[in-house]
Amino acid sequence: MTRKSTPGAAKKGTGEKKVTPSAKATAQKTAAPRSTAATPAGRAIPKPATTRAVKAAVEQKDTAQDVGVAQPAEPAQRKSRKRVPAAVPGGDGHNPFRTHMRRNRAPEPATLVIFGATGDLARRKLLPAVFGLWQDGLLGSAFNIVGVGRQEMTDEQFKDYALAALKESKETDAIQPGSLEKFRELLYYEFGDFAGDEVYNLVGKELDRAEEAHGGRKNALFYLSTPPSLFEPISSGLGRLGLQGESEGWRRLVIEKPFGRDLDSARELNDAIHKVWDESQVYRIDHYLGKETVQNLMAIRFGNAIFEPLWNRGYVDHVQITASEDLGLEGRAGYYEEAGVVRDMLQNHLMQLFALTAMEAPAAFDADAIRDEKVKVLRAVKEIPKGRVKSVAVRGQYGAGTMDGEKVPGYRQEPNVKANSPTPTYVAVKLEVDNWRWQGVPFFLRTGKRLPKKVTEIAVVFKRPPLGIFPGGLERNVLAFRIQPDEGVNLKFSSKMPGQEMVLREVVMDFRYDAFGAQLESPYSRLLLDAMLGDATLFPREDEVDHAWQIVSGILAAWDGVSAPEFPNYTSGTWGPAAADELIGPDRRWRRL
Ligand code: BG6
Repeated sequence: MTRKSTPGAAKKGTGEKKVTPSAKATAQKTAAPRSTAATPAGRAIPKPATTRAVKAAVEQKDTAQDVGVAQPAEPAQRKSRKRVPAAVPGGDGHNPFRTHMRRNRAPEPATLVIFGATGDLARRKLLPAVFGLWQDGLLGSAFNIVGVGRQEMTDEQFKDYALAALKESKETDAIQPGSLEKFRELLYYEFGDFAGDEVYNLVGKELDRAEEAHGGRKNALFYLSTPPSLFEPISSGLGRLGLQGESEGWRRLVIEKPFGRDLDSARELNDAIHKVWDESQVYRIDHYLGKETVQNLMAIRFGNAIFEPLWNRGYVDHVQITASEDLGLEGRAGYYEEAGVVRDMLQNHLMQLFALTAMEAPAAFDADAIRDEKVKVLRAVKEIPKGRVKSVAVRGQYGAGTMDGEKVPGYRQEPNVKANSPTPTYVAVKLEVDNWRWQGVPFFLRTGKRLPKKVTEIAVVFKRPPLGIFPGGLERNVLAFRIQPDEGVNLKFSSKMPGQEMVLREVVMDFRYDAFGAQLESPYSRLLLDAMLGDATLFPREDEVDHAWQIVSGILAAWDGVSAPEFPNYTSGTWGPAAADELIGPDRRWRRL
């Protein structure tokens, strides 16, 4: 359902509001003349000149002339974060798999405004993703970033902070000489109280200032990378100042997960957001949808004729979706104690993987056609009332154990976790889908922390052949999509073993994604660029999020805050509680990954 926005009491423009800019802001915003720092990808916001800025601008200009700025550069070959094979198929220096891999769309000039710019997500993922896109010349001819936070900081301090984050993050692409210094010139910072108006006024002024450098456009992507409690205040604050209005350029709102903490709060949040924004401006992010191999699931299903005819209850026995993590809490007790595994992984990432696996073929590869089909299949999932949870879901919490030869603490021994915490770190659930395609075919979803390894996989397990004419038992064929790591697709089937006897053995046909010889794009890069291009295909729509919450509601009602006497019920480094084997059994078993 797409709802119309009701722009709040916002007055257009930011100058009409009375604000008291901070001393820093006043100094920056009143000084003249202005300088403009050029970048390989375009022009930065002209800022009042300081000696240092002028010097930087002169240096940038020289470099810029050398490299021909203001043109979206050819996407540079990334020096990979991951290793990819240097060898190319054919051995003639040309890898046919890489044809068509360049992106030819560049977004219009725009400002990316990151709320929560000094937070963990911005530091580890967002800034590296934006930097990678910019360095590859994918961000168009003019682009700037305004970090916004509650923490007091000057522009210079934020620039230092961001550059340090880029150097530190494992997600950062190989840094080309001189790149960081140029990127630095794109960054600005504003701070304030998200409940008041002043901070939004300052953001508005940043957009005004960008206008000149951005060819008169005031396009802006507002990214809410803050604790969820701030989503609504920031959305409304932007609305109060009229910053959602699109008369001078597009305006979009990206919202991180978790979107609500249950069905009611998700609906309240949607309602609050729609008071300001039209649904078409809202981009709810689920980074799993940005993973290359998740998109490949659609490519394999709908780009080939051989799979679809088998993709139903006539041939499929069951489907297993696994997202296992070897990491534990990683210092996130404050968030995780509130969330637990159902909100953290099941309601969003796993539900999205499920929907893409089970949905019908969309009529077109566009945002609404795809999202309509996802919603239809989510709606078809049989409700799990609180009373049935015991028979279709298993919860677990990790205890102390050994991983990679090192002792690791149990969940309840992690810093800031309650000694008797009922928070689950593992869930396995059986979903049944009430539609013609999937009637009687269970979907088993499992995810957990401190499992033996990090692996995400979707496995379609086919029925056994109807008649056994060979000695020995008959195995089920499996088509497995490895989402990460070792991205690829493999098909397991039976073959005759060499020799006199007719003995069958399971073999695997394996396609590995690294055959393309390309580094896989980070999900955040992909999704940020899509949002800037206005492509919402990989962003869950309001009704999708709503249905995903409906599916897990019964589970939350049964488990939330309810003590689990059996916790901890799996040892770190093992595949979860024994009850999960009973859930899938007796004739089926979880895949060994
Ligand atoms: C996040 C969860 O959304 O996804 C984390 O909050 C989890 O708890 C992470 O570790 C897993 O993502 P990925 O991409 O590493 O599989």
